[in-house]
Amino acid sequence: MIKTNGKALNPSQTQYGQQDTSYKAAGQLPGITQLVDLFYDNMDSLAVASVIRNMHPQDLTESRTKLAYFLSGWLGGPKLYSQHYKPIGIPAVHKHLPVGQSEAEAWLHCMKQAIDQQPYEEAFKDYFIKQLRVPAERIKQVCSKQ
Ligand code: HEM
Repeated sequence: MIKTNGKALNPSQTQYGQQDTSYKAAGQLPGITQLVDLFYDNMDSLAVASVIRNMHPQDLTESRTKLAYFLSGWLGGPKLYSQHYKPIGIPAVHKHLPVGQSEAEAWLHCMKQAIDQQPYEEAFKDYFIKQLRVPAERIKQVCSKQ
């Protein structure tokens, strides 16, 4: 068992976050695209997500592409977002939005449901959703609504 900041990590999780292991564990771009599609389908259909759904454009096509491209680089794969758009700071691009606790939890809920339906290793599912909580918390901090 390895300890980081006093927290014990499951040995099978210690590999994630190194080079492109997370990108590969997520199924590379096809796997990430499938995940993002389901994530936005969840946002579109779950009542708990209606507030954050309404912050998005009606047509989610570009939102899907942008999130998939961002996650590719964030997981250690090709930096597709900065190649196709421009460098991005995740808290900064959300700063104008009214994101508080319930909005962040709704986003993470849509993502958790989507991750749970992917053919990922259980350890990666657990690692991935925990990692996503980090930028979600940062967004919450910078957004005006507390
Ligand atoms: C905390 C809850 C979050 C809410 C409520 C939220 C909401 C939004 C909204 C409304 C947009 C604008 C969509 C558009 O105009 O097309 C957006 C864009 C985006 N979000 Fe989030 N988001 C959240 C968390 C996250 C997290 C955790 C990530 C990354 C791991 C992320 C990645 C992105 C990206 C890459 C974009 C596209 C930015 C751009 O090019 O304009 N979001 N988000």
